Parts: sequence; structure tokens; C-alpha cells
Amino acid sequence: MRSKYLSLLVVFIILAFNEVLAKHKSSKPKIKRNDFPKDFIFGAATSAYQVEGAAHEDGRGPSIWDTFSEKSPEKIKDGNNGSIADDSYHLYKEDVALLHKIGFGAYRFSISWSRILPRGNLKGGINKAGIDYYNNLINELLSKGIKPFATIFHWDTPQSLEDAYGGFRGAEIVNDFRDYADICFKNFGDRVKHWITLNEPLTVVQQGYVTGVMAPGRCSKFTNPNCTGGNGATEPYIVGHNLILAHGEAVKVYREKYKASQKGQVGIALNAGWNLPYTESPEDRLAAARAMAFTFDYFMEPLVTGKYPVDMVNYVKGGRLPTFTAQQSKMLKGSYDFLGINYYSSSYAKNVPCSTENVTMFTDPCATVTGEREGVSIGPKAASDWLLIYPKGIRDLILYAKYKFKDPVMYITENGRDEFNTGEIFLKDGYRIDYYARHLEMVEDAISIGADVRGFFAWSLLDNFEWAMGYTVRFGIVYVDFNDGRKRYPKKSAQWFRKLLKEKKNN
Ligand SMILES: *[C@@H]1O[C@H](CO)[C@@H](O)[C@H](O)[C@H]1NC(C)=O
Ligand SMILES: *[C@@H]1O[C@H](CO)[C@@H](O)[C@H](O)[C@H]1NC(C)=O
Ligand SMILES: *[C@@H]1O[C@H](CO)[C@@H](O)[C@H](O)[C@H]1NC(C)=O
Repeated sequence: MRSKYLSLLVVFIILAFNEVLAKHKSSKPKIKRNDFPKDFIFGAATSAYQVEGAAHEDGRGPSIWDTFSEKSPEKIKDGNNGSIADDSYHLYKEDVALLHKIGFGAYRFSISWSRILPRGNLKGGINKAGIDYYNNLINELLSKGIKPFATIFHWDTPQSLEDAYGGFRGAEIVNDFRDYADICFKNFGDRVKHWITLNEPLTVVQQGYVTGVMAPGRCSKFTNPNCTGGNGATEPYIVGHNLILAHGEAVKVYREKYKASQKGQVGIALNAGWNLPYTESPEDRLAAARAMAFTFDYFMEPLVTGKYPVDMVNYVKGGRLPTFTAQQSKMLKGSYDFLGINYYSSSYAKNVPCSTENVTMFTDPCATVTGEREGVSIGPKAASDWLLIYPKGIRDLILYAKYKFKDPVMYITENGRDEFNTGEIFLKDGYRIDYYARHLEMVEDAISIGADVRGFFAWSLLDNFEWAMGYTVRFGIVYVDFNDGRKRYPKKSAQWFRKLLKEKKNN
């Protein structure tokens, strides 16, 4: 019950803030560097499979994303893959020079598990060239005064582990992930002081195991007969459980072996939309609270209290929600120094009768989540269908995390919008500037209320391989010409960030 009423109370508090803050909003947001604390970090983010390329070079082993995109090109909108991507494996110095020129103080990148451990585990050996690559990247960043924020897992499970025991479906992954994280801390932790164990475990669970549109492409037959096996009622919960335990083990290793000497921070990057009730009815308000429970709280609550959200315990019927042992709960409780938030979009949640047929993780909350209410979208659509622009959602999600989960230190680890790839060099992305100005304004609001947000990372530094969308959409503030040697061209939004960040020195 705690969770149910606490959610409603928190939602009530946030709605009250909405009214107060609505009063001083102009239609054209003016964001200044000085609106943010002096030590607030501005950065940009990427992930290994989306930018590195060199997928079959220098000893890297395959990941489930190599397999998914190369063996099932029909599942990628343009039939493409990340084997070359932005070629950042070779062009990382250019990437760092761009970050430096824009004036970013940090770079959030991810480490490719199978570049470090080609077979996923210690038995399969460490790839020295992989260690060298990340050493070079980190050293290049530091030489320009840019703080590395390293993500340990950004969806690219080694294919060998998928073959051996089903990847994150197998409990064995927890120890293999711990060993991999240990290698990262040991080799890079003298210079990397901000670690993110997992990126968006929710997306892994939802898109990898409920809809099956992302690697490893599993789902129930009734969801999509093209999936390569799967069960959307059970596997997502098993995978989610192993992801949470993998996170906990990695943090434990860091605290036991490295924290005292390296003095870094370890967090996790969770994505969620903000869910508004479809109507003001108590049923829809509870449905919105359940929608939050099954997305954000799903991973946050175990890290704060060592338990799953009460709404999940109550609504996942038939023993499908795994349980943590007392020892695991103890390990998980408090297993983060900061919380990373990836925010893009929001939705409405509506109470619906619980399904008894074609049950999946998506039907369990007995709530439908939609982007529109009576034909009116919650916000304008970007290039990706799921991305409806609703800037207030970032503030409300931050406040929700603050009030519901013990006022965590937060970083916005991703935020951004995309445009379609038209095949022509296009740099005049005024709408992206507007997106960032509006979202940053809302982050600033949350800080003014007392949320402990320490930084903001734009997604993404570069146009890149956007998973199942291939190269059909572009999220970069820097344009990449995939037809001409992956040449990089800063868009107007990159110039905007540059101007924003330059003010610091003038004031
Ligand atoms: C991967 O994509 C590249 C183009 O980016 C293409 O040349 C190659 O054939 C693809 N690989 C496979 C195995 O499909
Ligand atoms: C369950 O899925 C099957 C296959 O898609 C479909 O024919 C059936 O109508 C669905 N049942 C319900 C209650 O949605
Ligand atoms: C399954 O794959 C076939 C062949 O690629 C495609 O035509 C069909 O649309 C796919 N079905 C679904 C539900 O995605």
C-alpha cells in the first residue's frame, strides 16, 4: 500500500508545482549558462554499437546487435547495421575535438562488452586491443579537460553468452557481468570517476522481450510470429531481474575493491516517460501510478528499498515476478551513488480491465498508455513515432524521483529529438534548439524547487545507428554524412550549445 498512496501524493505535489511554475513561462525560452549551478555539467552522449563501427576488427567478438542486424536485416528499417556506424573506433579523436569545440565538459560513451571480452567471460580471454581503444579515448578526453562518463552495458550482450545460456535470460549472466565490470573498473577506474552500470534496462526488457523489435528479438507468438521464440509474459521479468542483480553485483565489486582508492561514483541510467492520468478519475490516476510502477519504479524501487514496487507484486499474477532473496535485497538497497535519467517523451495512462488472454508485461498493469487524449496528441511528434514532445514531463519525472525515492543525486543522461534522414546534408535544426531550450528550462525549474540535478547530456553527439530504425532518423547535434567517409558537420544546435556554454567564461 505504501507505494500506491505515496505515488498519488507525489503526483499531487507535482501537479501543484505545475500551477505555480506555469505563471512565468514565456513562449520562447531563454536559457543561460548562469541559470545553472557553476559546477553543473553539460555533455553529450553516444553508445558503442551506435557509433563505433569496427564491429569485426581488432579482436572484437559479436554482440546480439551484430547478429540481430546482420542476420535479420528485414528487422532494421533500412536493412542496415552498425558494422561501420560513425566509425568512431577510428575517428574518436575527431569526436573528442568536436566535444571540446562545442565546450562540453563531459562525454557519456559506452564500452562494448565483446570488444573487451570477445566471448563475454574471463575464460574467453581479454582483448588487449579493446582495452587500448578505451584507454586512448579516455586519455584523449582528459587531455581536453572532458570528464568521461562510462556506461558499462548499453544493450550489446556478447553473442557467446546469448548462445551459452540465453544472455540475460540466464542467471549466469550476473557473474559474467560482474567480472566484465570489474575489468572496466580495474583498467579505467583510475581516470573514469562516473560509471553507469546499465543503460535503460526497461528498453531491453520491453523491446528485446515483449515487442521483440530490438535484439535479441524475442516475444510471444501472438505479439509477432516473426520473433525468434520468446514469451512476453515471463521472459521480460526474468531478464529484468537479472539486469537488476547484475547492476547490484557491479556496484558491490566497485565498493569492495575500487571505491576507496578510485573515489568514483556508480549509477544507472533509467528511462521513463512521465505518465499523466487520461482523466482525473481515481481509476485513471491509479492507472498512471501503475504505469510509473511498471516502468520507472520497476528498476528504482529495488535499488532504493531492495524490493519490487507493490503495484508489480500485486499485478503480475501467477508467480511470474521473481523475488529477491534477503541477501540480494540487502545488496541492492542503496546500490547507487547517482541516478541517470533518460527522458524523451510522455503519455497518458488509462485504466482498463485486466487481460486474461494474450498476457504480456504490457497487459499486466491493466492500463493502456497512449500518446493522445480524445484525438489530441500530448505534444508534437519528432521523426520517431514514439517521440512526442512534452518538455514538462522531464521536470515532473525529476520531481517524482526526488520526492518518491529519497532525493537522489541525478544526471540527465539522455535527452533529445530526431529528424528524418533525407539523404541530404541538413544542418538547420532550429526545432532541436527549441527542444533543448524547453527541456533545459524545465530541468532548471526542477533544480529551483530543490532537485539535486548535477548535469545534462544531449542525445546524441552524432547522428548514428538508431537500432531498429537504422540510419533513417538522426538524433545528432552533429550531422554525419554516411555516404562520404562519415564526415562530421556541426548542426545549428551544436552552435547553440557552443554559445550557451561560452557564456560561462564571459561572466
Ligand atoms: C552491414 O552494413 C553494411 C553497410 O553499412 C553492408 O555493406 C554490409 O553488407 C552489412 N553486413 C551484413 C552482414 O549484412
Ligand atoms: C490473442 O492473439 C491472437 C493472435 O494475434 C488473436 O487472434 C486473438 O484475437 C487475441 N485475443 C485477444 C483477447 O486479444
Ligand atoms: C514478418 O516478416 C515478414 C517478412 O519479412 C513481413 O512481411 C511481416 O510484415 C512481418 N510481420 C510482422 C507482424 O512484423
